[in-house]
Amino acid sequence: MNILILGSGGREHAFAWKISQSPLCDSLFVAPGNAGTAGVATNLPISYNDFNAIAEAVIAHKIELVIVGPEEPLVNGIVDYFEVNENLSHIKIIGPNKAGAQLEGSKDFSKAFMQKYGIPTASSKTFTAETLEIGLEYLEAHSLPIVLKADGLAAGKGVIIAEKLPEAETAFREMLLDKKFGDAGSKVVVEQFLKGIELSVFVLTDGEHYKILPEAKDYKRIGENDTGLNTGGMGAVSPVTFADANFLRKVEEKVVKPTLHGLKEEGIKYVGFIFIGLMNIKGEPYVIEYNVRMGDPETEVVIPRIQSDLAMLMASTAKGTLNDFEIQISPQVAVTTVVVSGGYPGDYEKGKVISGSEKVEDVYLYHAGTTFNDNSEIVTNGGRVMALTGLANSLENAVHKSQRAAQVVQYEGKYFRHDIGVDLIRYND
Ligand code: AMP
Ligand code: GLY
Repeated sequence: MNILILGSGGREHAFAWKISQSPLCDSLFVAPGNAGTAGVATNLPISYNDFNAIAEAVIAHKIELVIVGPEEPLVNGIVDYFEVNENLSHIKIIGPNKAGAQLEGSKDFSKAFMQKYGIPTASSKTFTAETLEIGLEYLEAHSLPIVLKADGLAAGKGVIIAEKLPEAETAFREMLLDKKFGDAGSKVVVEQFLKGIELSVFVLTDGEHYKILPEAKDYKRIGENDTGLNTGGMGAVSPVTFADANFLRKVEEKVVKPTLHGLKEEGIKYVGFIFIGLMNIKGEPYVIEYNVRMGDPETEVVIPRIQSDLAMLMASTAKGTLNDFEIQISPQVAVTTVVVSGGYPGDYEKGKVISGSEKVEDVYLYHAGTTFNDNSEIVTNGGRVMALTGLANSLENAVHKSQRAAQVVQYEGKYFRHDIGVDLIRYND
């Protein structure tokens, strides 16, 4: 089977690395990919938002299965595009259609969905420019801190947690009147602040059956001890100490099952990953958000723990036979540390030559923002450059392996957090 993966991050390198090991995979392509995916697959210089070019490549390379990494093409309807095109409608895609992708593409949709199907989440109300005044009154009467969310995709920047009322009012006006996030902010969800510990649970569904994949904790802030600006993710850990069997059972009963039931009730055939961002509040799960894809860098700790054949898992998802699949998960602990470009998540330079990656030992090295320069050297090409995953029998050893590798990789301006997973070691004590 020929397989195409769409995307260019660490998530896609982890997928490609694992799928390339499968006897089921004949030729593997990644569009557009990075310097790491070039080592295990053929990179195609195509944007994942260019559906026509993707369609041409799929036909030219006789692709039978497409795995969509990022959310944008899903929210833009790549699955629907394939379905209505008679040359493409037989091709299997891992990812939901446009209707299903609203779980991530519209916070207003996902909140209404959770309310309708009794899925525990923060209480909220949605406002538009027309209801601005009522919204301001709502803010004034609300307890603090308060959470404001742009309805649509805002590249991870659309959530504001305001500690004080004036801050909330300013952000609210900026979104609705000044169009700070463009159309994504034409509706604003105002939400109760939830205090607890965050983690993510990943579900893979074929539309009828599901498998729960290993859970993970992400480290979103740029600075150590969770300080500074939000990023795409500076590291991740799986499994998560505080997600014990009892908590995970509650997640399955109170969140996963009602979510899949709700999708069915809404007439949405959902094939693909559901990433459930959760707050654990005194042992009870509350949904913060849905994403319609795997997380990055969470994938870089989830994939090394999946012992089963990933191409086979994807194929049975596409075929609707996930119930027959026995998924094997390693009990080991995975910790990934992301090395980033100096200045990220603000402005940063690209094109810095990367050295030392051939010297790292005993880790899985996943490329993210990397490419080749004219001299065929590997250079930085994004904010998040590489994810270095240690897998070990203990959290301490996994942290140690990951951190040691992050020291070895070199390029000008390299930065990484030294505390990924360290809070969980303390949690264990
Ligand atoms: P999202 O883009 O929905 O993932 O939100 C980004 C981050 O904001 C989440 O990962 C949480 O850390 C935080 N967040 C979102 N909603 C809430 C909430 N209701 N209460 C507390 N924190 C939240
Ligand atoms: N690491 C968070 C995300 O992938 O959205």
